[in-house]
Amino acid sequence: SCIALFASGSGSNVQAIAEAVQTGEIPAHIALLVCDQPDAYVIKRAEQLNIPVFSFRAKEYASKAEFEQEIVHRLREAGVDFIFLAGYMRLIGETLLHAYRGKIVNIHPSLLPAFPGKDAIGQAFNAQVKIAGVTVHFVDEGMDTGPIIDQESVRMAEDETRESLQRKIQEVEHELYPRVIKKLLTEAVMEGITE
Ligand code: GRF
Repeated sequence: SCIALFASGSGSNVQAIAEAVQTGEIPAHIALLVCDQPDAYVIKRAEQLNIPVFSFRAKEYASKAEFEQEIVHRLREAGVDFIFLAGYMRLIGETLLHAYRGKIVNIHPSLLPAFPGKDAIGQAFNAQVKIAGVTVHFVDEGMDTGPIIDQESVRMAEDETRESLQRKIQEVEHELYPRVIKKLLTEAVMEGITE
């Protein structure tokens, strides 16, 4: 299958997914990285990984519908059939949701439905939960609300700091997301949704 990754930041999940594609673990071709932050480190990573990039500034468009129309055009041109959000810090709008219904997946650094939205790791740390974690879910119109595909828990150590929790969660993400993507794409091929 042909996939696109969306990111806004450092891109460590993009890197993990791309490496799993390179080893053959994920049966896919990464056709495009979509990035709304032209200065983000993920763009350097994409260049090193030979992933084509479409980057844009939202404020250069009149509305979300306009930049999403441009994104959909680029995705169709590249033959993309699945989208994986990896730290894309924008709510997906109806233009993209309509074009890729049921084909957009996100990773969120909490055990949803706990701690949706920004700084989920900080929220979990401040709440002093004993079990934090990571969720992979389908994207709907809400903020981190779509159907859950898989989750992995992370136990808070007695002496856990916000930074050590973040490291643990990132390690889990880099293992969980490629595994879920592999499963979804393999199932999609079996169901005849994609090649
Ligand atoms: C990840 O923790 C992801 O779950 C969240 O944003 C972070 C992105 O990290 N939504 P990176 O850019 O992949 O390093």
